[in-house]
Amino acid sequence: MSFGGIMSFFTFVKGRIPYRFKAPLGRLLASRKSLAEDQRLNRRPCSLENRHVERCRVLPNRSAMLELLPKDGVVAEVGVANGDFSAAILDRNRPRTLHLIDLWASSFSGSDDLAFKSVSKRFAKESQEGRVHFHRDYSWDAISKLAPASLDWIYIDAGHDYDDVVKDLEVARHAVKPDGFITGHDYVKWSAPNGRFGVVEAVNEFCLKHDFEMRYITFESNMHHSFAIQRIS
Ligand SMILES: C[S@@+](CC[C@H](N)C(=O)[O-])C[C@H]1O[C@@H](n2cnc3c(N)ncnc32)[C@H](O)[C@@H]1O
Repeated sequence: MSFGGIMSFFTFVKGRIPYRFKAPLGRLLASRKSLAEDQRLNRRPCSLENRHVERCRVLPNRSAMLELLPKDGVVAEVGVANGDFSAAILDRNRPRTLHLIDLWASSFSGSDDLAFKSVSKRFAKESQEGRVHFHRDYSWDAISKLAPASLDWIYIDAGHDYDDVVKDLEVARHAVKPDGFITGHDYVKWSAPNGRFGVVEAVNEFCLKHDFEMRYITFESNMHHSFAIQRIS
């Protein structure tokens, strides 16, 4: 059976599961996957040392971080969704150029044109002015197509699984300027609806491997922290 055939069959079966069983079934499958991932990731040594945190500043939220990151620069947001944080970046950080990267895909149809159209409309003026550029692609592919050492900072908020974040960080390293910032969302191990994230392990291992230090960490009450790392100078 082709991939399309398998997906159609899956959609057919999913459509016939009584509504009251859907949420618990989804939670059960997600929690089994998350627990296995938790065991796998907890085995990875990734503790930071003093030199990785001694210049780190705690900020109340990610909006405050936008005020401190380089202004009037070249910036990329990776994982955009409906563009709420993109609007905050434009408003508070005022980048000269903002690259917006997302697949804008849904798990079944493979393409979420409605979401893409709505984001394109939302930033149509900035796009016409040449300030905003859309990249509808896998995050790691889109980042690696940006000019090397061209970004003042990048915000990573696409796939939150360990492997996805590792790939995004590795390509981001080449895309940011030598003194540029790699920032991102959800520096947290668990998220209630989504299960186990691999952001903490991926970011810490990256700092240890490539000599980056934590410069900012945000302290939202929902504990969905953002982080900013920079090469140790
Ligand atoms: C959490 S949302 C982004 C939210 C946004 N940064 C904000 O704060 O308003 C994550 C987005 O990443 C996208 N995404 C997930 N994995 C991706 C990948 N590998 N490549 C491109 N986009 C991806 C999803 O389509 C989704 O729109």
